[in-house]
Amino acid sequence: MSAMSDSRITSVSTEARVFPPPAAFAASARIGSREAYDAVYARSIQEPEAFWAEQAQSFHWFTPHERVLEWQAPHAKWFVGGTTNLAYNCLDRHLAGPRADATAIVFEGEPGDVVRYTYRELHAEVCRLANALTQLGVVAGDRVGIYMGMVPEAAMAMLACARLGAVHTVIFGGFAAEAIRDRLNDAGAKVVLTQDAAWRRGGQVPLKAQVDRALADVPSVEHVVVLQRMAEAPALGERDYDWRTLVAAQSAEHEAPALDAEHPLFILYTSGTTGKPKGVLHSTGGYMVGTALTTRHVFELRDDDVYWCTADVGWITGHSYVVYGPLCNGATVMMYEGAPNHPAPDRFWELIAKHKISILYTAPTAIRAFIKWGDEHPQRHDLSSLRLLGTVGEPINPEAWMWYREVIGGERCPIVDTWWQTETGGIMMTPLPGSIPAKPGSCCLPFFGVSPKILRDNGEEAEPNEGGLLVIDKPWPSMLRTIWGDDERFRATYFSRFEGKYFTGDGARRDADGYFWVMGRVDDVVNVAGHRLGTAEVESVLVAHEAVAEAAVVGRPDELKGQALVGFVTLKGGVTATEELRAALIDKVSADIGKFARPDAVIWADALPKTRSGKIMRRLLARLAAGETELGDVTTLEDAAVLASLRDREGEDE
Ligand code: PRX
Repeated sequence: MSAMSDSRITSVSTEARVFPPPAAFAASARIGSREAYDAVYARSIQEPEAFWAEQAQSFHWFTPHERVLEWQAPHAKWFVGGTTNLAYNCLDRHLAGPRADATAIVFEGEPGDVVRYTYRELHAEVCRLANALTQLGVVAGDRVGIYMGMVPEAAMAMLACARLGAVHTVIFGGFAAEAIRDRLNDAGAKVVLTQDAAWRRGGQVPLKAQVDRALADVPSVEHVVVLQRMAEAPALGERDYDWRTLVAAQSAEHEAPALDAEHPLFILYTSGTTGKPKGVLHSTGGYMVGTALTTRHVFELRDDDVYWCTADVGWITGHSYVVYGPLCNGATVMMYEGAPNHPAPDRFWELIAKHKISILYTAPTAIRAFIKWGDEHPQRHDLSSLRLLGTVGEPINPEAWMWYREVIGGERCPIVDTWWQTETGGIMMTPLPGSIPAKPGSCCLPFFGVSPKILRDNGEEAEPNEGGLLVIDKPWPSMLRTIWGDDERFRATYFSRFEGKYFTGDGARRDADGYFWVMGRVDDVVNVAGHRLGTAEVESVLVAHEAVAEAAVVGRPDELKGQALVGFVTLKGGVTATEELRAALIDKVSADIGKFARPDAVIWADALPKTRSGKIMRRLLARLAAGETELGDVTTLEDAAVLASLRDREGEDE
């Protein structure tokens, strides 16, 4: 990886250039000038309740709210007393209008099969599936696991749950059995929706087999519904149902029930500083209004757009910006099943030309990979349908931003670099494409109603350009409501660092123009290729191996993936460090969590450096892993010899 020499990938300059919104874009935008943005933003902060009450009006409510907000930090309730249904707002609401027969989802499988659903058809499919789930005994409040690839049925599964008020927990298809088991058990899932296998890089990724392994130890699951994606019908066990058979027998009529605005919508597990992933809980009304409003303004959606967010539905970006936000707006959503480089590195560009995609929303890691694969691939295709580009998930280096603008956007498309998190539900900071000049590498300014601050350790506000901790000091509609089953952890994780303010876990600075620059996590969370991983999760897999006494996992900078994982491992007495053992440890991480969590390197250590109180000195290990020689203040090291032993071994893997 370090041999890669393309200077456009490596971050060498943060010198800010400014790109004003293209004139043609500003002319037709909903918010078409900086003054217009400033006025709306000021109102959203000064009169939040009036602002959000107005925004809520463009949705269908069975009963209107009585109060906009009840805020008793850390608990927020939005649109109190209102009842609605998110699936109704994504589907039924469009059936009476001009979008009824517009395409809701265009799907292309990796082998090239294309399927389209209009809003009317998608509505019918979701109603049938909701009836099927009801037949299986699913009622409002029950939890349903969804472990699928990127197929339209994954979106249908989410919508059917939302329609019934069943709380879905989507588990990314890259997770392996143990991770699935832990999540299903934590959620207490009653039913799991899955598929036999998904296409990826020409091969079949087995999904049902992982579910079967996981379910050996999940007593709460009563039924499994299996979608057949491959040619051969999957073998079904006693508790399994064939998706299509089950759904075909159902009525396409289903009345969406009125659900309380605060009815739990979904649990999505994300990594934190301990080994146990956190079940981030989102609720119905606030999430709906927040994700739909951001989708409309950030992507400046129009009815003739073909909108493509490349995220997997297993992550928050897939929830908010593949499914709920765009469908609430009646958008035409592209879904692609497979790898960006199958059968060739130009697959994305071929898809854009073929489906006339106008909005592309992807991750910086993907952009850096495209740069590495070569300009000839996008240049071979007609990308003139594109009119807006977005990025999400990790900081984008200015060089990758410039390449995206020039080679993909033909210098005519604005770029929105959107900062947000699983916990925030929707986009929090971004340039608005018609009104806010963009600076490459900056997520620019807060979205309406979002109040970010950069604080010093002592809680004072930092000066312009002074790095500090990023907090949000006012509640917003799509914020998480709690951690499933652990409200104390919710309070301790997010609202105790600065009493009553939401702590993001990110470090950032704000420049003299008020633009935000997010630097990355300040906790033990590592962002590998846009995937958020807790180092403690990987450590607990390593220490569970019989040969391992102790392990510490840290992130190190990686030109392509942003960050990569490095594990420092101390073996039990009498165990010999071999290449086989190293490979076995890495394989164990693949088998237990998933391939995407594999450490790039495992470094043997006689012991791990610890403070006098016994805490592993991770920051020091991170600097060692990054190959830095200047190790800073190590006077608190319990045993300086440990450090020397590490230094000697560092580089063995290179
Ligand atoms: O560190 C920030 C980084 O991703 C983290 C959130 O990860 P996750 O919950 O998986 O959600 C990712 C998709 C929203 C943040 O704490 N991050 C996300 N977007 C950006 C970013 N860092 C810099 N710039 C961004 N645009």
